[in-house]
Amino acid sequence: MTEPADDIFAQLKQQATEQLKKITTPEELEQWRVNFLGRKGQVPRLLRTVKDQPAEQRAAFGQHGNKLRQELEGLLTAHQKKVGTRAMSQPQPKVNQAGLGHLHPLTLTRRRLQNIMAALGFLIIEGPEVEEEKYDFDALNIPFEHPARAETDTFYLAPRSPRGDGRVLRTSTSAVQVRAVIENDLVPPFQIASPGRVFRNEKPDPTHESTFYQLEALMVGPSVTVADYRSITEALFSTFFGKVASIRLRPGYFPFVEPGFEIDMSCPFCQSGCRLCKQTTWIEMGGAGMVHPNVLSNMNVDPEKYQGFAFGYGIDRFTMLQHGIDDIRLFWSGDIRFLKQFA
Ligand code: PHE
Repeated sequence: MTEPADDIFAQLKQQATEQLKKITTPEELEQWRVNFLGRKGQVPRLLRTVKDQPAEQRAAFGQHGNKLRQELEGLLTAHQKKVGTRAMSQPQPKVNQAGLGHLHPLTLTRRRLQNIMAALGFLIIEGPEVEEEKYDFDALNIPFEHPARAETDTFYLAPRSPRGDGRVLRTSTSAVQVRAVIENDLVPPFQIASPGRVFRNEKPDPTHESTFYQLEALMVGPSVTVADYRSITEALFSTFFGKVASIRLRPGYFPFVEPGFEIDMSCPFCQSGCRLCKQTTWIEMGGAGMVHPNVLSNMNVDPEKYQGFAFGYGIDRFTMLQHGIDDIRLFWSGDIRFLKQFA
Protein backbone atom coordinates (compact mmCIF):
# COMPACT_ATOMS: atom_id res chain seq x y z
CA MET A 1 0.00 0.00 0.00
CA THR A 2 1.67 3.16 -1.18
CA GLU A 3 -0.92 5.85 -0.71
CA PRO A 4 -1.30 7.36 2.72
CA ALA A 5 -4.15 5.71 4.63
CA ASP A 6 -6.10 8.96 4.75
CA ASP A 7 -6.51 8.99 1.01
CA ILE A 8 -7.78 5.47 0.77
CA PHE A 9 -10.45 6.16 3.32
CA ALA A 10 -11.37 9.45 1.72
CA GLN A 11 -11.69 7.78 -1.67
CA LEU A 12 -13.84 5.03 -0.28
CA LYS A 13 -16.07 7.50 1.45
CA GLN A 14 -16.51 9.51 -1.72
CA GLN A 15 -17.32 6.40 -3.71
CA ALA A 16 -19.86 5.27 -1.11
CA THR A 17 -21.62 8.61 -0.83
CA GLU A 18 -21.77 9.06 -4.61
CA GLN A 19 -23.40 5.68 -5.03
CA LEU A 20 -25.76 6.19 -2.13
CA LYS A 21 -27.21 9.34 -3.69
CA LYS A 22 -28.53 7.33 -6.62
CA ILE A 23 -30.23 4.69 -4.50
CA THR A 24 -34.00 4.71 -4.51
CA THR A 25 -35.05 1.16 -3.49
CA PRO A 26 -34.49 -0.93 -0.36
CA GLU A 27 -32.94 -3.67 -2.53
CA GLU A 28 -30.31 -1.33 -3.92
CA LEU A 29 -29.64 -0.03 -0.45
CA GLU A 30 -29.08 -3.56 0.84
CA GLN A 31 -26.66 -4.16 -2.02
CA TRP A 32 -24.83 -0.99 -1.06
CA ARG A 33 -24.67 -2.11 2.57
CA VAL A 34 -23.26 -5.50 1.61
CA ASN A 35 -20.74 -3.91 -0.73
CA PHE A 36 -19.36 -1.39 1.75
CA LEU A 37 -20.24 -2.61 5.25
CA GLY A 38 -21.00 -6.34 4.92
CA ARG A 39 -18.63 -8.90 6.43
CA LYS A 40 -16.76 -9.13 3.14
CA GLY A 41 -17.47 -5.51 2.22
CA GLN A 42 -14.84 -2.95 1.36
CA VAL A 43 -14.59 -1.18 4.70
CA PRO A 44 -14.21 -4.31 6.83
CA ARG A 45 -11.79 -5.71 4.25
CA LEU A 46 -9.69 -2.60 4.42
CA LEU A 47 -9.81 -2.64 8.21
CA ARG A 48 -8.49 -6.18 8.21
CA THR A 49 -5.32 -4.97 6.48
CA VAL A 50 -4.40 -3.01 9.60
CA LYS A 51 -1.89 -5.71 10.47
CA ASP A 52 -0.07 -5.14 7.17
CA GLN A 53 0.47 -1.45 7.87
CA PRO A 54 3.72 -0.11 9.23
CA ALA A 55 3.64 -0.43 12.99
CA GLU A 56 3.61 3.31 13.67
CA GLN A 57 0.59 3.85 11.39
CA ARG A 58 -1.57 1.03 12.64
CA ALA A 59 -3.39 2.94 15.37
CA ALA A 60 -4.29 5.83 13.09
CA PHE A 61 -5.30 3.44 10.33
CA GLY A 62 -7.67 1.60 12.67
CA GLN A 63 -9.15 4.84 13.95
CA HIS A 64 -9.78 6.15 10.46
CA GLY A 65 -11.32 2.90 9.40
CA ASN A 66 -13.67 2.77 12.36
CA LYS A 67 -14.66 6.36 11.86
CA LEU A 68 -15.49 5.68 8.23
CA ARG A 69 -17.53 2.65 9.18
CA GLN A 70 -19.52 4.68 11.67
CA GLU A 71 -20.10 7.42 9.15
CA LEU A 72 -21.34 4.99 6.54
CA GLU A 73 -23.61 3.28 9.08
CA GLY A 74 -25.06 6.68 9.91
CA LEU A 75 -25.66 7.38 6.22
CA LEU A 76 -27.24 3.97 5.82
CA THR A 77 -29.72 4.55 8.65
CA ALA A 78 -30.60 7.97 7.29
CA HIS A 79 -31.13 6.57 3.82
CA GLN A 80 -33.24 3.69 5.17
CA LYS A 81 -35.64 6.27 6.49
CA LYS A 82 -35.98 7.63 2.95
CA VAL A 83 -36.37 4.43 0.95
CA GLY A 84 -37.46 1.94 3.64
CA THR A 85 -35.90 -1.43 4.47
CA ARG A 86 -36.17 -4.63 2.56
CA ALA A 87 -38.36 -6.29 5.17
CA MET A 88 -40.87 -3.49 4.76
CA SER A 89 -41.04 -3.82 1.00
CA GLN A 90 -41.31 -7.59 0.98
CA PRO A 91 -44.78 -8.90 0.13
CA GLN A 92 -46.69 -10.31 3.08
CA PRO A 93 -46.62 -14.13 2.94
CA LYS A 94 -49.79 -15.70 1.65
CA VAL A 95 -51.48 -18.02 4.12
CA ASN A 96 -50.21 -21.14 2.38
CA GLN A 97 -46.69 -19.80 2.61
CA ALA A 98 -46.85 -19.28 6.36
CA GLY A 99 -43.96 -20.81 8.28
CA LEU A 100 -44.36 -24.00 10.25
CA GLY A 101 -45.69 -23.59 13.75
CA HIS A 102 -43.94 -24.92 16.81
CA LEU A 103 -44.61 -25.73 20.43
CA HIS A 104 -45.01 -23.04 23.05
CA PRO A 105 -42.03 -22.75 25.42
CA LEU A 106 -44.26 -23.72 28.35
CA THR A 107 -45.31 -26.87 26.54
CA LEU A 108 -41.69 -27.77 25.91
CA THR A 109 -40.83 -27.33 29.59
CA ARG A 110 -43.86 -29.24 30.71
CA ARG A 111 -42.97 -32.17 28.49
CA ARG A 112 -39.42 -32.25 29.74
CA LEU A 113 -40.48 -32.13 33.40
CA GLN A 114 -43.10 -34.76 32.79
CA ASN A 115 -40.56 -37.07 31.15
CA ILE A 116 -38.15 -36.66 34.05
CA MET A 117 -40.88 -37.45 36.58
CA ALA A 118 -41.96 -40.48 34.58
CA ALA A 119 -38.36 -41.69 34.48
CA LEU A 120 -38.28 -41.33 38.27
CA GLY A 121 -41.21 -43.73 38.44
CA PHE A 122 -44.11 -41.29 38.80
CA LEU A 123 -47.41 -41.87 37.10
CA ILE A 124 -48.40 -38.75 35.15
CA ILE A 125 -52.04 -37.86 35.76
CA GLU A 126 -54.14 -35.04 34.40
CA GLY A 127 -57.45 -33.71 35.61
CA PRO A 128 -60.10 -31.12 34.79
CA GLU A 129 -59.36 -27.40 34.88
CA VAL A 130 -62.86 -26.77 36.23
CA GLU A 131 -62.76 -28.46 39.61
CA GLU A 132 -65.19 -29.16 42.39
CA GLU A 133 -64.60 -27.29 45.61
CA LYS A 134 -64.45 -30.57 47.46
CA TYR A 135 -61.29 -31.58 45.58
CA ASP A 136 -59.74 -28.15 45.16
CA PHE A 137 -60.25 -27.22 48.82
CA ASP A 138 -62.01 -29.53 51.29
CA ALA A 139 -59.99 -32.66 50.57
CA LEU A 140 -56.83 -30.55 50.84
CA ASN A 141 -57.69 -29.45 54.37
CA ILE A 142 -58.62 -25.93 53.24
CA PRO A 143 -61.83 -25.18 55.17
CA PHE A 144 -64.73 -23.08 53.88
CA GLU A 145 -63.65 -19.92 55.71
CA HIS A 146 -60.00 -20.09 54.56
CA PRO A 147 -58.97 -16.86 52.77
CA ALA A 148 -57.72 -18.79 49.71
CA ARG A 149 -61.36 -19.68 49.06
CA ALA A 150 -62.47 -16.05 48.91
CA GLU A 151 -63.65 -14.72 45.56
CA THR A 152 -60.82 -12.21 45.73
CA ASP A 153 -58.41 -15.15 45.38
CA THR A 154 -60.30 -17.81 43.45
CA PHE A 155 -62.38 -17.77 40.26
CA TYR A 156 -65.81 -19.32 40.86
CA LEU A 157 -67.90 -20.53 37.96
CA ALA A 158 -71.10 -19.20 39.42
CA PRO A 159 -71.68 -16.95 42.43
CA ARG A 160 -70.00 -18.68 45.32
CA SER A 161 -72.25 -21.24 46.95
CA PRO A 162 -72.77 -20.72 50.70
CA ARG A 163 -72.56 -24.51 51.06
CA GLY A 164 -69.09 -24.65 49.54
CA ASP A 165 -70.19 -27.17 46.94
CA GLY A 166 -69.65 -25.15 43.80
CA ARG A 167 -67.05 -25.29 41.09
CA VAL A 168 -63.90 -23.25 40.59
CA LEU A 169 -61.12 -22.86 38.09
CA ARG A 170 -58.64 -25.06 39.89
CA THR A 171 -56.18 -23.15 42.03
CA SER A 172 -53.55 -25.89 42.12
CA THR A 173 -53.01 -29.30 40.58
CA SER A 174 -52.99 -30.91 44.05
CA ALA A 175 -56.68 -31.31 43.34
CA VAL A 176 -55.84 -33.65 40.47
CA GLN A 177 -54.00 -35.98 42.80
CA VAL A 178 -56.62 -36.32 45.51
CA ARG A 179 -59.24 -36.80 42.82
CA ALA A 180 -57.14 -39.49 41.15
CA VAL A 181 -56.52 -41.37 44.41
CA ILE A 182 -60.17 -41.22 45.49
CA GLU A 183 -61.74 -42.01 42.13
CA ASN A 184 -59.38 -44.87 41.36
CA ASP A 185 -59.24 -46.28 44.91
CA LEU A 186 -55.46 -46.10 44.77
CA VAL A 187 -53.78 -48.00 47.59
CA PRO A 188 -50.25 -47.04 48.74
CA PRO A 189 -47.51 -47.22 47.76
CA PHE A 190 -48.14 -44.83 44.88
CA GLN A 191 -46.31 -41.93 43.32
CA ILE A 192 -48.08 -39.60 40.96
CA ALA A 193 -47.29 -36.29 39.30
CA SER A 194 -49.74 -33.87 37.79
CA PRO A 195 -48.69 -31.06 35.48
CA GLY A 196 -51.33 -28.59 34.44
CA ARG A 197 -52.77 -25.13 34.19
CA VAL A 198 -54.06 -23.36 37.29
CA PHE A 199 -55.88 -20.09 37.91
CA ARG A 200 -55.73 -17.48 40.63
CA ASN A 201 -57.36 -14.12 40.93
CA GLU A 202 -54.08 -12.20 40.88
CA LYS A 203 -53.20 -8.89 39.37
CA PRO A 204 -50.57 -9.69 36.72
CA ASP A 205 -47.09 -8.27 37.18
CA PRO A 206 -43.67 -9.48 35.97
CA THR A 207 -43.75 -12.47 38.33
CA HIS A 208 -47.49 -13.15 38.71
CA GLU A 209 -50.16 -14.19 36.27
CA SER A 210 -53.80 -15.05 36.79
CA THR A 211 -53.07 -18.33 35.04
CA PHE A 212 -49.89 -20.37 35.05
CA TYR A 213 -48.72 -23.96 34.99
CA GLN A 214 -47.73 -26.19 37.86
CA LEU A 215 -46.04 -29.48 38.33
CA GLU A 216 -47.17 -31.15 41.52
CA ALA A 217 -46.22 -34.57 42.83
CA LEU A 218 -47.37 -36.89 45.59
CA MET A 219 -45.61 -39.97 46.91
CA VAL A 220 -47.19 -42.10 49.62
CA GLY A 221 -45.99 -45.34 51.19
CA PRO A 222 -45.25 -47.03 54.50
CA SER A 223 -41.94 -45.23 55.02
CA VAL A 224 -41.70 -42.25 52.66
CA THR A 225 -39.65 -39.50 54.29
CA VAL A 226 -38.26 -36.02 53.70
CA ALA A 227 -35.07 -37.72 52.46
CA ASP A 228 -37.11 -39.24 49.62
CA TYR A 229 -38.55 -35.84 48.85
CA ARG A 230 -35.11 -34.36 48.79
CA SER A 231 -33.56 -36.91 46.47
CA ILE A 232 -36.45 -36.81 44.01
CA THR A 233 -36.43 -33.03 43.84
CA GLU A 234 -32.66 -32.83 43.47
CA ALA A 235 -32.83 -35.37 40.66
CA LEU A 236 -35.58 -33.35 38.98
CA PHE A 237 -33.78 -30.00 39.23
CA SER A 238 -30.38 -31.42 38.29
CA THR A 239 -31.75 -33.22 35.24
CA PHE A 240 -33.77 -30.25 34.08
CA PHE A 241 -30.99 -27.67 34.41
CA GLY A 242 -28.21 -30.08 33.42
CA LYS A 243 -26.19 -29.21 36.50
CA VAL A 244 -26.03 -30.89 39.90
CA ALA A 245 -28.39 -28.89 42.10
CA SER A 246 -28.97 -29.13 45.82
CA ILE A 247 -31.94 -27.76 47.70
CA ARG A 248 -32.54 -26.04 50.98
CA LEU A 249 -35.74 -26.27 53.00
CA ARG A 250 -37.21 -23.34 54.90
CA PRO A 251 -40.29 -23.65 57.09
CA GLY A 252 -43.45 -22.80 55.18
CA TYR A 253 -47.17 -23.13 55.80
CA PHE A 254 -49.64 -24.89 53.52
CA PRO A 255 -52.85 -26.36 54.98
CA PHE A 256 -52.32 -29.72 53.27
CA VAL A 257 -48.85 -30.52 54.60
CA GLU A 258 -47.26 -30.76 58.02
CA PRO A 259 -44.46 -29.89 58.25
CA GLY A 260 -44.45 -27.63 55.20
CA PHE A 261 -41.43 -26.17 53.44
CA GLU A 262 -40.49 -23.39 51.09
CA ILE A 263 -37.92 -24.77 48.69
CA ASP A 264 -34.81 -23.06 47.37
CA MET A 265 -32.51 -24.53 44.74
CA SER A 266 -28.79 -23.81 44.61
CA CYS A 267 -28.35 -21.47 41.62
CA PRO A 268 -27.44 -23.61 38.60
CA PHE A 269 -26.15 -20.55 36.72
CA CYS A 270 -23.43 -19.21 38.95
CA GLN A 271 -21.13 -19.81 41.88
CA SER A 272 -21.13 -16.50 43.64
CA GLY A 273 -24.34 -14.67 42.74
CA CYS A 274 -25.98 -13.54 39.50
CA ARG A 275 -29.08 -11.79 38.15
CA LEU A 276 -31.19 -14.94 38.24
CA CYS A 277 -30.54 -15.72 41.91
CA LYS A 278 -30.58 -12.02 42.81
CA GLN A 279 -26.99 -12.37 44.02
CA THR A 280 -27.98 -14.86 46.73
CA THR A 281 -26.90 -18.16 45.03
CA TRP A 282 -30.35 -19.57 45.94
CA ILE A 283 -33.51 -19.57 43.86
CA GLU A 284 -37.04 -20.00 45.26
CA MET A 285 -38.72 -22.89 43.48
CA GLY A 286 -42.00 -23.55 45.31
CA GLY A 287 -43.57 -25.44 48.20
CA ALA A 288 -43.42 -28.92 49.60
CA GLY A 289 -44.09 -30.90 52.76
CA MET A 290 -45.20 -34.12 54.38
CA VAL A 291 -48.84 -34.81 53.54
CA HIS A 292 -51.17 -33.77 56.37
CA PRO A 293 -52.88 -36.74 58.12
CA ASN A 294 -56.28 -35.17 57.35
CA VAL A 295 -55.47 -35.18 53.66
CA LEU A 296 -54.41 -38.84 53.80
CA SER A 297 -57.70 -39.68 55.55
CA ASN A 298 -59.62 -37.69 52.93
CA MET A 299 -57.98 -39.91 50.31
CA ASN A 300 -59.01 -43.03 52.25
CA VAL A 301 -55.39 -43.69 53.17
CA ASP A 302 -54.73 -44.67 56.78
CA PRO A 303 -52.39 -42.01 58.29
CA GLU A 304 -51.35 -44.50 61.00
CA LYS A 305 -49.89 -46.80 58.35
CA TYR A 306 -48.76 -44.48 55.61
CA GLN A 307 -47.04 -41.19 55.09
CA GLY A 308 -45.87 -39.22 52.10
CA PHE A 309 -44.60 -36.03 50.60
CA ALA A 310 -46.07 -33.57 48.14
CA PHE A 311 -44.54 -30.72 46.20
CA GLY A 312 -45.64 -28.03 43.81
CA TYR A 313 -43.39 -26.05 41.43
CA GLY A 314 -44.14 -23.51 38.72
CA ILE A 315 -43.56 -24.65 35.15
CA ASP A 316 -43.40 -21.01 34.08
CA ARG A 317 -40.64 -20.48 36.63
CA PHE A 318 -38.53 -23.34 35.22
CA THR A 319 -38.96 -21.86 31.75
CA MET A 320 -38.11 -18.33 32.82
CA LEU A 321 -34.97 -19.49 34.58
CA GLN A 322 -33.87 -21.70 31.73
CA HIS A 323 -34.14 -18.92 29.17
CA GLY A 324 -33.50 -15.88 31.37
CA ILE A 325 -37.02 -14.51 30.74
CA ASP A 326 -37.83 -11.74 33.20
CA ASP A 327 -41.56 -11.20 32.66
CA ILE A 328 -44.09 -14.03 33.05
CA ARG A 329 -46.69 -12.04 31.09
CA LEU A 330 -44.74 -12.61 27.87
CA PHE A 331 -46.02 -16.20 27.78
CA TRP A 332 -49.54 -14.95 27.19
CA SER A 333 -48.68 -11.86 25.18
CA GLY A 334 -49.20 -13.63 21.85
CA ASP A 335 -46.12 -11.78 20.63
CA ILE A 336 -44.83 -13.93 17.81
CA ARG A 337 -41.35 -12.38 18.02
CA PHE A 338 -41.06 -13.64 21.58
CA LEU A 339 -42.42 -17.09 20.81
CA LYS A 340 -40.28 -17.59 17.71
CA GLN A 341 -37.17 -17.63 19.83
CA PHE A 342 -38.18 -21.06 21.10
CA ALA A 343 -38.83 -22.71 17.75
N1 PHE B 1 -50.18 -26.29 46.14
C1 PHE B 1 -49.13 -25.37 46.54
C2 PHE B 1 -49.27 -24.11 45.72
O1 PHE B 1 -49.97 -24.15 44.74
C3 PHE B 1 -47.77 -25.95 46.32
C4 PHE B 1 -47.51 -27.09 47.26
C5 PHE B 1 -47.77 -28.36 46.89
C6 PHE B 1 -47.00 -26.82 48.52
C7 PHE B 1 -47.52 -29.41 47.74
C8 PHE B 1 -46.74 -27.85 49.37
C9 PHE B 1 -46.99 -29.14 48.98
O2 PHE B 1 -48.68 -23.09 46.01
